[in-house]
Amino acid sequence: MKSAGIPVFDRIQSREIERKKNMGLYNDTVMDHFMHPRNVGEIPDADGTGIYGSPACGDMMQVQIKVDDNDVITDCKFKTFGCGSAIASSSMATTMVIGQKVEDALKITNKAIVDKLGGLPNIKLHCSVLAEDALKHAIYDYAQKHGKHYKELEGFNPDDHGTAPDDVTHL
Ligand code: FES
Repeated sequence: MKSAGIPVFDRIQSREIERKKNMGLYNDTVMDHFMHPRNVGEIPDADGTGIYGSPACGDMMQVQIKVDDNDVITDCKFKTFGCGSAIASSSMATTMVIGQKVEDALKITNKAIVDKLGGLPNIKLHCSVLAEDALKHAIYDYAQKHGKHYKELEGFNPDDHGTAPDDVTHL
């Protein structure tokens, strides 16, 4: 596609080229979770809800959890305004936490999510942080509402959104 020299078309064209380049870098597991994401949606009577905006790109993620009397996460759903890596990371994260004790779910890092996906391009690693942080916010909300204390949440500040890395690709 040749742009007409109009800046907005130039930007669209370069995004499209970058998108295709990134798609080629995704492995089959990432593509599967991107194209067929698990646990998308909302839990009407959720025990905890976390909404997190990425400092890196401004994309948003909502994660909700349902927790039983034994502190086991029985359901986890997500919605996102984010890229393919964010969708794949969140989808994988939900499958990792369902059936886990809350304290074990808090130990799931973005690195563990990326490993389970079989890897992400370096420029997309911040997208997996979005999944980890939204989940942590959902658990924090659950803990606040139910008077629970978890060692892993000590020092956690829900208002701290960190800083953006330099190498962000939004596609
Ligand atoms: Fe924003 Fe991936 S989550 S670029």
